[in-house]
Formats: sequence, structure tokens, C-alpha cells
Amino acid sequence: MKELNGKHILLGVTGGIAAYKSADLVRRLRDAGAEVRVVLSSAAARFVTPLTFRALSGHPVPTELFEPEAGSAMGHIELARWADAILIAPATAHTIARLAHGLADDLLATICLASSAPLALAPAMNRQMWCNEATRSNIELLRERGVHLLGPIEGNQACGENGPGRMLEPEQLVRRLTGLFIPPYLAGVRVMVTAGPTLEDIDPVRYLGNRSSGKMGYAVATAAQQAGAEVVLISGVSSLPWPDRMECIDVRSAIEMHEAVMQRVPRCDIFIAAAAVADYRPQQQSKQKIKKDLSHLKLELVRNPDILADVCALTNGPFCVGFAAETERVAEYAQAKLDGKRADMIAVNRVGLPGSGFESDENMLEILWPGGGTTLPRSTKPEIARQLVELIGQRYKQTRK
Ligand code: PMT
Repeated sequence: MKELNGKHILLGVTGGIAAYKSADLVRRLRDAGAEVRVVLSSAAARFVTPLTFRALSGHPVPTELFEPEAGSAMGHIELARWADAILIAPATAHTIARLAHGLADDLLATICLASSAPLALAPAMNRQMWCNEATRSNIELLRERGVHLLGPIEGNQACGENGPGRMLEPEQLVRRLTGLFIPPYLAGVRVMVTAGPTLEDIDPVRYLGNRSSGKMGYAVATAAQQAGAEVVLISGVSSLPWPDRMECIDVRSAIEMHEAVMQRVPRCDIFIAAAAVADYRPQQQSKQKIKKDLSHLKLELVRNPDILADVCALTNGPFCVGFAAETERVAEYAQAKLDGKRADMIAVNRVGLPGSGFESDENMLEILWPGGGTTLPRSTKPEIARQLVELIGQRYKQTRK
């Protein structure tokens, strides 16, 4: 199963320079399991060709209300009924104004009026146009009507200016769109997630680290946010962009992660420890670069605090979920961790196999809780995270009854 498996996404592309990114968006939506149909506005067709989108989506791409492509296999009413969600990316200021005022003067606007599917807009325009009062009030009107605004973000713009109005990247749009299909079953719940590796400095140049990329933890944080939770993500060093709409705190070492977690844990209902925390750190950190003139170098290591165990030990602490990375005797070690740390749930990855655990885009998990357990078969990390968070939500509600 993938995040958007079987979902019918109607992608409207309107006339902005960001339209070139929509080609990649089609590919990513399909990779996430969606069936995609694309409608181009006539202005968009001047930036990108229908042929590109036809090849990428595998379906005809209509541009006009009265044209054979629109009226043959699927008229505007049929397309409006077919869609589980409509995403317009990029949505220009002109398109936003027309949608706000209910115009039905082209195929895409007509489909939007004729559809009861959720409508999401990914605005993209010059920063002055985005800040203009007319656009502000159009956006407000659409928001009040329940239209979902995905972005824009601040950044460099095609016109050479810098500011708000830049379209979200295709990957972020897929993530945000996925969120529209998830009921907010964690609304009002505060979730803290740790992710990524901790790095333990030896000297100003070297450190002890591990192979965690942060992908699993970031996917868990995103899935919890999509389920309506208020999320804090505490991350070790990772090259991933911060997920949207959550508080993100970066740390380097286990000591820093421990401090960040313990400071915030009184305000959290669920704690999910997906980080690969170093069990040991060098007893002393050299202030200067250690020279290589010795034939042997002994590094004295001391134990790091166990963050998960410390949170599990709190009186009236949160619902605690640990991860375990094991290469052998997986079930036995996982049970020992569940019991030893007194966690409410443990998610075990078998590491050292291709397609699961560290760095991989996919994973599979054995989940254990006191008196029960289940298996999440191999899938993408976002999908595994979605299923895991759903399970956590169910167990959390049962234990807090
Ligand atoms: O980041 P990715 O590349 O996507 O990879 C994901 C992952 C494999 C890192 C992740 O899914 C995972 O398994 N994380 C936990 C890895 C780990 O450190 O396991 P452990 O068996 O050493 O620790 C058990 C649990 O105790 C974990 O929840 C860990 O966060 C926590 N712990 C461990 C040591 C410590 N000092 N403090 C802790 O809180």
C-alpha cells in the first residue's frame, strides 16, 4: 500500500512559470499510488505542453471547455465526479480570483464549481501580487469556504525577487495532499518525536555517529501532524528538510537530545523515540585536533543517558513508543526492550537487510505492546509511518480510557 493508493487526483495546472514543476508533481503523485488526470488552463499550455502531461499521466489532457478531448471520454461533470481531490498547482493570482468569485469561464474553473471533492490550491506568484489586498481577500474568502491552501513559501522567485509566493516543492505538495485524506483522529493530542542520529564529538574534526538518515522519524512526525496532532520534532543532524507545520528543534549529541526532550516532555501526550541515539560518547572531547603520531589511540567511552527509559520512568508521563534496531534474535531483544524500558509500545526494524531500517526509503516493522503485537509489511516509510501512527492512536486511546 502507498500513501495515495487508488485515489483519483485531478491536477489543474494554471499559467505560471512554476508549471514546469507540475510535471514532476504528476510523477510523484503516481509514485504515491494515485491515478492522476491533468487539466491545463490555456495560459498554462503556453508554459508547458499537454503532450508532456499526457505522457506522464497516461490520460488525455484537456485545456478548453468546448473541445473534443474534454467532451469525449470525460466531460467536465464526469471529471468533477471522478476526482477524490482537486489540486491546482501552480494556482495563479488570476485563477485564485476567478475561483473566489465563482467564475465558470474555462474548463478547470467549471470542474471546481461542479465538484464536491476537496479543493487544494498551491499558489505561486510574485510576492507583491501575493501581498496585494485583492489577493489577500480572495484567499480569505476561499479559506472560509474550506479550500485548502498549500503554501506558498518564501524564497527566490523567477522574477528575481525574494519573498512569499513561491510554490511548495512537488514532494511537499504530495505530503500535504495525503494529509487531506486522513481524519484528524489525533486532534488535541501533543506528540513529540525524536529522529535521526546523534553525533558524539571526539575532537573538532571527528565524531562517533551512525547511519540513521532521519527518514523514518520525519515520516512519523509528518504522519502524526497529518492525523491532527500538535507535533514537536527533535532531530539529530540530517540532510532532510524540516517537515511543515510543526516545531522542529535540531540537536547534535545524545546529551543535547536528552535535554531538549526532558524540557518539553511535560507538555506532551505521546512520545515516539525513532532516533538512533549513541549509547556511548567519548569521556573527553579534545579541544584540539588529535594528531596521528601515536601508533595506537585509546578512546575511553562513557554511557549516554537513555532518553526513552528516562521518559518511560516519569510519573504521569506520556504514552511511550520506542524503536529498536536489531540484526538478530529480533523478537527476543524487542520484548526485552519493551519490558526493560517499560515502554507502551516498541517498533522493531530488522537492520542489515536491503530495503529496511537505516537510510532505506522503505521499511517493515514488528510492533509489540504488553500482551499483543502485529507486523507492518514492507512499504514506503511514509506509509509505514501512517500505519504505525494509527496503531499508536488506537493504543493511546485505549490505555487513557
Ligand atoms: O533514520 P532512518 O535512516 O530512516 O532509520 C530509521 C531507524 C532504523 C534509525 C529507526 O527506525 C530506528 O530503529 N531507531 C532506533 C534505533 C536505535 O537506536 O535502536 P536501539 O535499539 O539502540 O534503541 C532502542 C530505543 O531506545 C530507541 O527508541 C532509541 O531512540 C532509544 N534510545 C536508545 C539509546 C539512548 N541512549 N536513548 C534512547 O532514547
